[in-house]
Amino acid sequence: MTYPAHVRDGLLGHTKRTTDNPVFSDQPFKLGVFSLNCSGGMIMSEAETGFRITWDQQLEIARAADRGGLDALVPVGRWTGFRGDTNFNGVCFETYTWAAGLAQATENIGIFTTTHVPTVHPIVAAKMATTIDHISNGRFGMNLVMGWFTPEMEMFGRKQLEHDKRYEYGQEWLDFAMRLWNEEGDFDFEGAEFFSSKGAHAYPKPIQAPRPALLNAGASPRGQQFSAKNVDINLIALPTEEVPDYVRSIKGTAQNEYDRDIDVWTYALVICRETEAEAKRVQQDIIDKGDWPGANIIMETLGIESQSFGTQIREMQERFIAGWGGPNIVGTPEQVAEQLGEYQEAGMAGAVFGFLDYAKETQEFCDEVLPIMKKNGLRH
Ligand SMILES: Cc1cc2nc3c(=O)[nH]c(=O)nc-3n(C[C@H](O)[C@H](O)[C@H](O)COP(=O)(O)O)c2cc1C
Repeated sequence: MTYPAHVRDGLLGHTKRTTDNPVFSDQPFKLGVFSLNCSGGMIMSEAETGFRITWDQQLEIARAADRGGLDALVPVGRWTGFRGDTNFNGVCFETYTWAAGLAQATENIGIFTTTHVPTVHPIVAAKMATTIDHISNGRFGMNLVMGWFTPEMEMFGRKQLEHDKRYEYGQEWLDFAMRLWNEEGDFDFEGAEFFSSKGAHAYPKPIQAPRPALLNAGASPRGQQFSAKNVDINLIALPTEEVPDYVRSIKGTAQNEYDRDIDVWTYALVICRETEAEAKRVQQDIIDKGDWPGANIIMETLGIESQSFGTQIREMQERFIAGWGGPNIVGTPEQVAEQLGEYQEAGMAGAVFGFLDYAKETQEFCDEVLPIMKKNGLRH
């Protein structure tokens, strides 16, 4: 097939490799800001904060992270809040359009969308991803989520699929998107169960070949399998002592079954203050003013019932209130840098994290923690 020049322009793309994405920089330990697009961020509490979901603040956070040299901005894909006392995450920016805006407003940082695969058709998603990849000149990535929060899927009038079936849906979705990003000319797509398309094609191609960088937070056996087969980075929170076995296992699956590599990053809430006592006071205040009904709703949805977990339940509620179930990295800049170093030593390749007051604390992290991480050999 021949194209006139103005149509040939439509073939443009594939001028960089996925491995050129900023998340594959040579930084010894990668860093990203997480959940900045949703009210509360990673905190379900009425603790005092200047954090607001306004575009001005999103720009301020993104530009501070970009100027500071951080590697990634990772939003949360959310369509409804968790009700309770604070309706945690109930006010949030949609993540493709968010990523497009921030791609234009930044220069070096990797920018992700968090895409609920059941809510967007692969042709639409592949085209939006390509567009943001062009806006960002190859800095775009996708966090693929299958849609665990049933009320959210019900908003779309969808019947929630059984857990492992959601990953099968995600696999077909991604297989289709991969062909759109890579094949020239038309093709017919016949998935085993979910997608069927005649004469599919997409131009231009993304900047990154063969695809934008991909993340996934699968933790179940099926989720880990999906990650090992498809994505660059698996996100998970684990106690440091469990990290080495987990990383060995998922890297082993990726290498032995799919002949590819995968990294593992943790997620965390960072509470960094001038003194350890002040940081701990802030952490305690978040818990004291916690949204306990909201935490219960999340735990019930996840099937964590008080009968089965007994006395551990309060501790789990606290972990959801402060940090979405992930670890808290609490202390002085030195202590925060040291704790991040412990994750690296255990085998994590990076971390995405949130703050109580993102705009203020992202800047402080870059000013105060990064220089210590550089001294410690975690950044350069
Ligand atoms: C760092 C991180 C980010 C996540 N972001 C989202 C999100 O934005 N939207 C969402 O519905 N689920 C999100 N999840 C939940 C995952 O999609 C997934 O349901 C969870 O990790 C459990 O996976 P599993 O069912 O394979 O064990 C996130 C999880 C983690 C650890």
